[in-house]
Amino acid sequence: MPRLTSLKSLYRLSSRSSSFLPAANVIPSSSFQWGQRHTRSVETMASSKLKAAEHLKGLEGSVWVEFVKLTTEEKAINLGQGFPDFAPPNSVTQALTEILAPGSNPLMNQYTRSYGHARLVNAIAAMYSKFIGREVDPMTGVLVSVGAYGSLYYAINSHVNPGDEVIIIEPFFDCYEPMVRMARGVPRFIPLRPKNEGVTSTRDFYLDKEELKGLFNKKTKAIIVNNPNNPLGKIFSEEELTVIADLCKEHDVMCISDEVYEHLVYSGNKFTRMASLPGMWDRTITVCSAGKIFSATGWKLGWSIGPQHLIKNSQTLHQNCVYNCPTLIQEAVARGLELEFSRLGQPECYFLELPRELEEKRNKMEKVLKESSFIPIIPEGGYFMMAKYGHLGVDVSAYGDGPQDYKMVRYLTKTQGVATIPCSAFYSAEHKSLGEPYIRFCFIKEDCTIDKAAEKLKAFSKSLKA
Ligand SMILES: Cc1ncc(COP(=O)(O)O)c(C=O)c1O
Repeated sequence: MPRLTSLKSLYRLSSRSSSFLPAANVIPSSSFQWGQRHTRSVETMASSKLKAAEHLKGLEGSVWVEFVKLTTEEKAINLGQGFPDFAPPNSVTQALTEILAPGSNPLMNQYTRSYGHARLVNAIAAMYSKFIGREVDPMTGVLVSVGAYGSLYYAINSHVNPGDEVIIIEPFFDCYEPMVRMARGVPRFIPLRPKNEGVTSTRDFYLDKEELKGLFNKKTKAIIVNNPNNPLGKIFSEEELTVIADLCKEHDVMCISDEVYEHLVYSGNKFTRMASLPGMWDRTITVCSAGKIFSATGWKLGWSIGPQHLIKNSQTLHQNCVYNCPTLIQEAVARGLELEFSRLGQPECYFLELPRELEEKRNKMEKVLKESSFIPIIPEGGYFMMAKYGHLGVDVSAYGDGPQDYKMVRYLTKTQGVATIPCSAFYSAEHKSLGEPYIRFCFIKEDCTIDKAAEKLKAFSKSLKA
């Protein structure tokens, strides 16, 4: 019964309820074997017309595919992929329970409006009208997508023509580059540079104004800004954003502003929305994520906000490939946003509660990494911390191919049972060496998870000194 065998690995037996519970992030090794049985015929077909389209060439690899699989195989403590190991707030889980309760509206299980469930786009428009400081139209200024990923894909693929250049600031969330290439666009990269060798805060990473200016030209269609940035955790100051905005206006360029970590801003830092800067609303698509806002990445819901003349292009792409996102999830997120919006600015609002808790976790992670002899770069926002490891002098040459940080991550996962992510994955081929000295730790985890990782990392550090 091969199907049964493969399903078994997807589920683990719950000791409490003795029912089968889906194991999140588990990759069924048996389904992999199932695929291999067909290898020969697939290879034969690959030499015929049954080949991938040209625009997928070179995009096969993914840092997530390799390291999520490795983390699962090694049963390592997961400080790699960016998701919490604690429950989302009641504002959304309770809402979902009510929506699913017997006797509730059966239409919640059916298709809804393509560009976004009415209750959700109304909630989004009301909230971001306040955040951005201008009227956002719920019907023409919002598009609900499958995660922020969906909105990024739409923004890029509904505007970029073959040969158009798209400026990407490094380090960047790794899907930007393949998305630009799928549109046959040309990515142009510019790294955030550390002010000096010994920087310890993301505040000390800067965008060189002249270097940026040099990238703008007649072919430049768009720039992608991720603020707060993943993996660095930098929050761009209003002054830095204004430099980018002025260049966008001067060269008639659109801005895709990925603001998925919009509420994760730590003490002493101010988050400015690109769309709120003078003259930028008309040329900016802001990308957000319910998964990040509500600690529910598996709900996979996001949205784009912007002027009608840009959002309508994303809407066209969406209506022809996804059509609409799950109604239940949209309704639950709508109710959650309504509740949190009603208590905006109050300590119990999740938009304040989560960063308050995360700031403590950030400080805890900083301490753990320092005590384990890593050199962390302290983030101003987001939930990742980059850290240097080279000075530890670990021999990782036996841990596969590729850049040093990939080997270090494999080494730590396999020998110490702590999974992280290599930072060169967030840089273009031409600038990989800038990311190679760092690995990324995710700290949106239960304290006990960080404590368990701390024990292992400290023991590792001690063993190096022995
Ligand atoms: C900067 C950034 N943008 C977009 C995404 C994707 O978000 P979603 O899970 O909502 O698709 C992520 C996820 O980690 C991210 O870090």
